[in-house]
Amino acid sequence: MFIRGSAIRVSPYFSRYWGESSSHLSSFRRSICRSAQLEFVSNLSSKSENTVFALARNPDVAKNLQALASRANVHILKADITDPASLKAAADAVRKVTSGSLDVLINNAAIAGDYPWTALDDYPSQEELVADFRKNFDTNVLGVILATNAFLPVLKNGHTKKVLSLSTGLADPAAVLGIGHKYAVAYSITKVGIEMANIKYAAKYKDEGFTFLTISPGIVKTDMYGPPKKPEDAAKRQEVSAQFATIAPPGFPGAISPEESVSAMLKVLDGTTPADSGKFVSHHGNRNWL
Ligand SMILES: NC(=O)c1ccc[n+]([C@@H]2O[C@H](COP(=O)([O-])OP(=O)(O)OC[C@H]3O[C@@H](n4cnc5c(N)ncnc54)[C@H](OP(=O)(O)O)[C@@H]3O)[C@@H](O)[C@H]2O)c1
Repeated sequence: MFIRGSAIRVSPYFSRYWGESSSHLSSFRRSICRSAQLEFVSNLSSKSENTVFALARNPDVAKNLQALASRANVHILKADITDPASLKAAADAVRKVTSGSLDVLINNAAIAGDYPWTALDDYPSQEELVADFRKNFDTNVLGVILATNAFLPVLKNGHTKKVLSLSTGLADPAAVLGIGHKYAVAYSITKVGIEMANIKYAAKYKDEGFTFLTISPGIVKTDMYGPPKKPEDAAKRQEVSAQFATIAPPGFPGAISPEESVSAMLKVLDGTTPADSGKFVSHHGNRNWL
């Protein structure tokens, strides 16, 4: 039996015990999951040995998540990863349930910002560029660091001591240069920051049994991957799809389901040891992003 925790749509979400996989909830999951976070909670809480803590900034409106809270091993905690006080309160709540330990933290929450289809020099104004970058940095970099810091004390008492932070293949400089992707600038640049933050944690906790792993979930059918909000951006989406096609493996099926992505990521996570700490890999466990 393993012990785990994580962070989802919600932000961080944690599960305490991790055991055999089960499939009896798969049809239920398919009907409700629209984000990676929800699928992480659904997947991990389907094992009764796990205790899962899901952090949501607006739990009252997270109806699909609330549906999962009917499971005895799911706890929903209100927290915003940009708000250290709310994270501390969440960590205190976890501490009370688990007697002070946590096995896995999953930093899943992120934003794509207000200009996902804008190149660096195409923002309507420099002020809007600055605001978009600050917003992305607050959530995608500082939020992950604040959440990790808040839960490190309980993780130190855990058995597996694993921190999984979600990034994207768009944070791999070689891949981005190779395909010529010029959009999602604030998102891509801040996601690069997560990799370095994990490397810094890996360096500090090298000899303490921790595994800090940055992972890309693939292209996943979630709200984030939804169609562009502005019709004029549809052509840019097609342009990017054609770029992805140049690095897609033979038979690439396109965007995958949250179930497939989360299951693949958890398999990769299970296979990691402290020797992998600081690595950035895909849901395949390598540097193939699609
Ligand atoms: N989908 C893809 O194709 C894809 C590809 C590469 C990487 N990723 C990465 O995979 C992860 C999951 O993304 P997703 O596709 O599931 O996106 P999503 O559907 O947009 O979900 C993002 C989640 O983050 C939460 N969140 C945002 N800011 C938060 C904050 N300040 N505090 C707490 N929670 C916050 C959101 O909560 P609310 O519900 O309150 O808004 C939402 O639940 C992200 O890190 C993303 O960058 C996704």
